[in-house]
This record gives sequence, C-alpha cells and structure tokens, in this order.
Amino acid sequence: MFVKEELELYQSNRPKSKKLWETAIKVLPGGISHNIRTFGLTALGGFPVIIKSAMGPYLTDIDGNKYLDFWNGHFAMILGHNHPKIQEVIREHLSYGWHFGTNTKYQIELAARLIDDNPGIEKVRFCTSGTEATMYATRLARAYTKRRLVAKAVMGWHGASDTLCYDVGGLVDGKAPLGQLKAEDAGIITFEINNDKAFDIIKKNSADLAAVILEPLLGGGGGFPVDIDFLTRLREETEKAGILLIFDEVITGYRFRDSLFQNELKILPDLTTMGKIIGGGLPIGAIGGKNEIIERSSPQNENQVLIGGGTFSGYPLSMIAGLETLNLLRESQQNYSRINDEGDNLRNLLNQFFNEEKLPMLAIGHKSMIMLHIMSKWIENPSFKEIIEYKDKNREALLQLALFNRKISGLHGLGALSMVNTHEHMSQILEVFKEISHSVSNSPIK
Ligand SMILES: Cc1ncc(COP(=O)(O)O)c(C=O)c1O
Repeated sequence: MFVKEELELYQSNRPKSKKLWETAIKVLPGGISHNIRTFGLTALGGFPVIIKSAMGPYLTDIDGNKYLDFWNGHFAMILGHNHPKIQEVIREHLSYGWHFGTNTKYQIELAARLIDDNPGIEKVRFCTSGTEATMYATRLARAYTKRRLVAKAVMGWHGASDTLCYDVGGLVDGKAPLGQLKAEDAGIITFEINNDKAFDIIKKNSADLAAVILEPLLGGGGGFPVDIDFLTRLREETEKAGILLIFDEVITGYRFRDSLFQNELKILPDLTTMGKIIGGGLPIGAIGGKNEIIERSSPQNENQVLIGGGTFSGYPLSMIAGLETLNLLRESQQNYSRINDEGDNLRNLLNQFFNEEKLPMLAIGHKSMIMLHIMSKWIENPSFKEIIEYKDKNREALLQLALFNRKISGLHGLGALSMVNTHEHMSQILEVFKEISHSVSNSPIK
C-alpha cells in the first residue's frame, strides 16, 4: 500500500529526526513552533524532518538527507539559502554587536531604499513581523478615517493577530480561532476575491469602513491570483468612499520584480505591509505608504497612533541583510524573468498533466510562485470556492511525504522558486509529479 510504504521509507531514512521528535512533542505543543511546520505529516502517523543546514537550493536534515527546497523559509529566501554575500555582511556586522535598542543608519538606508523603489511608499515604519505590520496598518486606517470596520478577503492570511485572523484556513463565514472575539465584535467583515458581491459589501458598509486589506495575490491563502479588473475596481471604489486600500505585500513584495507587486499591477494602495524578502531572511515587518497616513505614527504628532514598542524593531542585522538582498536583487533583472518564466512554465506543464490524467490536482500561483491543491474529486476548472470546499488535507500531507521521500521539500504543495533554481530542477519536479500523482490522489489513506 502506497501510504504504508512511503511512511516506512520515510521513517527508515530519518532515525535521528524520529528520535528528536519524541522529545519535541514533550516540550513543544504539537512538537512545533509554527503550525504548518508539521507539513501535515503527523496526520499520517509521521513526523516532520528536522533541518540542520541549508545551502543554495538545498536543505539538509539531521539524518543527512538533502532536499531541493521550494519552501524557501516561508518565501523569504529568494536568493537561495546561505547566500555568501548576505552571510558576509551579517558576519561583518556581528563584530560590532547585534542588538543596541537604538537607532542605526541601516534602518534609514533600508527605508530610503524602499521609498526609492516604490512610488506608493513615501514613508516607512519598521517592526519585527508581517503580523505586526498588518495589525498596525489597520490601526492606522481606523484612526485616520475615524471608522470602525475593516474588510478582509476570505482566505487572506495576514498573520494570526486578533485583528485579522478571520476567515482563514478551515475557518469560514467570519469564524475566528477559539479565544478571539467574533468577527462582528472585532469590526471585521469579509469578502471573496474576484466576486462582484465584494463591492456590494463595501458599499453597504462604506460609512463605517476604514479599510479594505488584501494581498494582490492570495499567497498565504494558497496562491490564488486576484483579477486585475477586481483590483482596479477596488481601488476606484475605495478611493471614492474615503476607504483606505491596504495591500499586504509581505509575500509578493520583491517576489516577482525588484520592487513591490503593485508596480507591476499599476495600482497604488494607500498603505502597504511588507516583510519576508525585504529582511534578507531575518525577522522583519514594515508598513509603508502615504506620508500623511504613516506620519500619524510619529511621536511628534499630537494625534499619534501608537505603533510599537518592539524591542527588536529596526533590528540592525535584518536591516543590513535586507539592504544587501535588495542590492543583489536590483542586479538580478534577468534572473527575475528567468525564474518567473520557469514558474509559469512548470505550472502549465503540471496542470496539463493533471488534466490529461484527470487527477484532482491543480497548480496555481503567479510567475515564480507555485502552489499545489489536491481536491477530494476531479473538477474541470474548479472555482475558488470549490478548491477550498473540496480541499483534501490528508492527500496534501501524503504529497508532502512522497516529495520528502524523493528529496524535495515544499509547503502548500510546493512554494516558490529562488534565484538559484535551474531549469533542471523544474524537470526534476515534473518527473517526480508524474511518478507520484496517481498514487497520491488515488491510493487509500486509511
Ligand atoms: C501575506 C502575509 N501577510 C502577513 C504574514 C505574517 O507575517 P509574519 O509571519 O512575518 O508575522 C504572512 C506570513 O506568512 C503572509 O504570508
């Protein structure tokens, strides 16, 4: 049986990970520090790999297994792992110390750089995570507009703060994780992307609506592209009604070009949240946008909107690694178009194969981002709703298991390409999918 064989193979090649996992589950709830890092494998009776090191496109686990990695540190490592230049600037700075709790020149330089690259960014405030950035952006919006409600996209992931963790993952219809206020009490309304009903919802609530927040491509939610017409209308209608438009570019920022995705779309929001790539693989979050809105967070402003503390905001090593990353990306125009084309090509080839074989699998995303969905039945051209409704989590876990056994690591099915991925890597992926997809989608699981 496929599942049993795959599990046995997986376990026999990972005795050290298996042993350490026994301790992990005793000292960490569920054995992890981020829910998705089980890769779903515990549901199949397995355990996640425990990684020791990374270099270029590869991760190596504590048992010595080496994986071609498409998860890339939650999409942050666009240059690949352990880039020598980034390591060099971090090492160089370490000799000066690594945390001062003061201002450094690097936060000024990184902010200036983000402003220089992006017409929609006039000023920047740094924090330590994308979760904080989105939380602060909505706070700014509420204070600036003096309105109560925030509208967010169904499946839009903006981190697990009490502010925006609604209608994510398996939670639909305004449902919130246990321990959180109900959406209506938290002032959250939700809408579906690429669906005109969103505009009715916005219109109906416009007098009390402070902001609409969404990713211009639902990355965290599963790689769902947002139609350009939908985004254009969203910009027009929010502007007319005095509602702030917030783009969450924590994933999409610097992912497809050496600036924010909004520049490709030619749609400028009022506020933008950033993270991941702009920290060069170290913790970061940032809120950028129109000066008159961001400036409201200044302590010199008598109507100050509180952003921070933040013991580690503007953390020097993140600023330095981020700056160096953006420098290297600026020199990587050709590499951007190369990995964007490779991503488009691989998605198309995968979908062509899934369709021909009538497999209930789908590759979505945009350019260098490739996310795989497995559904419990085959549907021709499934809609956004159908992909979510028929999502087969156990089979997605089985996919991860089969990929790990074939020395490929990914999450959300796959993830995103980095600058060190080659055409040969794409061929390797395609071959592996041709080998395993039938078993993954058809073999009995329990
Ligand atoms: C689009 C988006 N926004 C916000 C966040 C939260 O960022 P962080 O994990 O840095 O808190 C994420 C994290 O995956 C994300 O994908």
